[in-house]
Amino acid sequence: MKHFLAIADLSRQQVQQLLSRAQYFKTTQQFPIYSQYTLANLLYENSTRTRISFELAAKRLSMNVVSVDLSTSSEVKGEVIEDTCATLVAMGIQFLVIRHQQEGLPKRLSQQFGHAVHVVNAGDGQHAHPSQAMLDLMTIVEKKPDLNALKIVIVGDIRHSRVANSLQCLFKLMGVGELVLVAPTAWQPEVVHYGEVTDSLALGLKNADVVIALRVQKERLTEPEQLDLSSYRQQFALTKASLRGVKADALIMHPGPINRGVEIDSEIADGPQSVILTQVENGVYMRMAILEALL
Ligand code: CP
Repeated sequence: MKHFLAIADLSRQQVQQLLSRAQYFKTTQQFPIYSQYTLANLLYENSTRTRISFELAAKRLSMNVVSVDLSTSSEVKGEVIEDTCATLVAMGIQFLVIRHQQEGLPKRLSQQFGHAVHVVNAGDGQHAHPSQAMLDLMTIVEKKPDLNALKIVIVGDIRHSRVANSLQCLFKLMGVGELVLVAPTAWQPEVVHYGEVTDSLALGLKNADVVIALRVQKERLTEPEQLDLSSYRQQFALTKASLRGVKADALIMHPGPINRGVEIDSEIADGPQSVILTQVENGVYMRMAILEALL
């Protein structure tokens, strides 16, 4: 594996290897030393979890890290992203972690600079967020390893969600028994990679083992896709009442950031079945495994 761009590039065996390596790091707290490598974080969209966990992952592997501050970089003076990347490559960095609104940009940069750097997709537009899907899978498998026996439900703005795209591809690859995608019509996916689509939250959540809520991505909605958030909340939010039909030990997940009181209530996000902060914790170990696998 030279680059980490999309789940579609991975085999089942590679996913298993990443899962077991990330779990090894978490369990043993023993980390190899890769101090000769430098990683550059280039995130053109806002981020807390992804940016910081790639930085921590690299530092735990003893790598050097530079986080490019795009508000003070020479792109403000008109430099194009390709020249920024060429500049970083000339300075000797080996990993380019990139988040950008332009779909396919990480792949394009990997074709241009792949001889010199490993490109990691940290989220490209509405297309893919593969490291998020991998850390989500790690979190599920820790608690519920028999994927074939699971009913997993993703609820929310599926149409604009790169996380939902990557999760569908990963759940299909790994043989998840049943996947249900719950969304109002305006937010249902135009392309389904895996799973059944419904606008009935009650139907979707019935006997679910894992429920993944998605953020309402106001910044991605076009005019006809704007929904009244209080009626969205009434029909699609994860609340004590709406979750009545799920299994007693169901896991509640959210990739973050959370809109409390919109797609999920605080008592659910902070409740005993929530593994949202475990997702964040696992993100560092999974990203360590991903960086190591690229070497
Ligand atoms: N889940 C996720 O990508 O979070 P950030 O936008 O904070 O990185």
